[in-house]
Amino acid sequence: MGIGHGKVILLGEHGVVYGRPALAASLGVGCRASAVFSDATSIRIESEENQKSFSRAGTFNQLRDVELFVDRPNEVDENESLRRAFAALLDTYPKPMPHLALRIASDLPGGAGLGCSAALAVAATRAIDSLIGISRDSTQVAEASMAWERIFHGNPSGIDSAVAARGGIAVFYRGRPLEMIDTKRLPLMVIGHSGESASTRAMVEKVALRHARFRSELEALFDEMADLVIKGRIALETGDIVGFGELMNRDQVLLDRLQVSTPRLEEMCAVAREAGALGAKLTGGGGGGCMIALVADEQASQNVMDALKKLGYQAFTARVGVGAGSANEC
Ligand code: PMV
Repeated sequence: MGIGHGKVILLGEHGVVYGRPALAASLGVGCRASAVFSDATSIRIESEENQKSFSRAGTFNQLRDVELFVDRPNEVDENESLRRAFAALLDTYPKPMPHLALRIASDLPGGAGLGCSAALAVAATRAIDSLIGISRDSTQVAEASMAWERIFHGNPSGIDSAVAARGGIAVFYRGRPLEMIDTKRLPLMVIGHSGESASTRAMVEKVALRHARFRSELEALFDEMADLVIKGRIALETGDIVGFGELMNRDQVLLDRLQVSTPRLEEMCAVAREAGALGAKLTGGGGGGCMIALVADEQASQNVMDALKKLGYQAFTARVGVGAGSANEC
């Protein structure tokens, strides 16, 4: 059995694609995969667990249950991307590869900025490794699973894969292993869904087009994001959650300037702050998906969730950064 963690990006998304650091934390939920030898190579994704984990939050975007055979192209775009991602991952293994049936149970909603596709890829890599007797550390697992991520995301920085494989709270620079952070207390976050499905690939492409046109402006913006990440690391290490909340708020201003926020995400951040959140921002690619709001305690989290739910948004509370470790077996 192999597992992959879901994640939230606390600071620095998009800048991380351009070599700047970002701060991310794992969620207690993710994906679990197992593989057995079989007559034909197939992948099956089941999401019932998802309904349990997110039931308090409503449905979020349920992943659809699906079973695909690697040598049978599919007419549904989403399924074809999944089939190609699976094929790309299998291609990284030494040949000849035996036929195998891979089964993944996902606790995560898709298209929400919670790292579902990387968690699937990491869980899949671990299950296949374990079936055919390959042993590697979490950095190597994350690297291998990137073959899958590239099909879905085009130009991923690798942050989702790294956190999906390792868990915990960490600073990530493209092409480097995670720098794990020792926090006094794991941050408590309200995670709210905007109700808009988001495509990370589309948002990364949108930013790339703007970067090509307004290079110096965006480089300066990414530099400021990087500065927030460096300060954020210190705030987490010293337990300064008020300071960390302010950094999140500033990051959201920059993300909005980058044009990856939406009116609904802006509304959610404003409502969360009014209800007592110490800071709030979108998380992940943007263009929809989720918002995260840092809260001081359970009472504050309840107030923020109530305020979001009053406006019709789904939300749940999680202590982020749980599950640190190589998570090779479960
Ligand atoms: O939307 P998510 O959760 O996959 O996060 C994407 C983060 C980006 O920085 C926007 C892209 C990347 O590959 O780092």
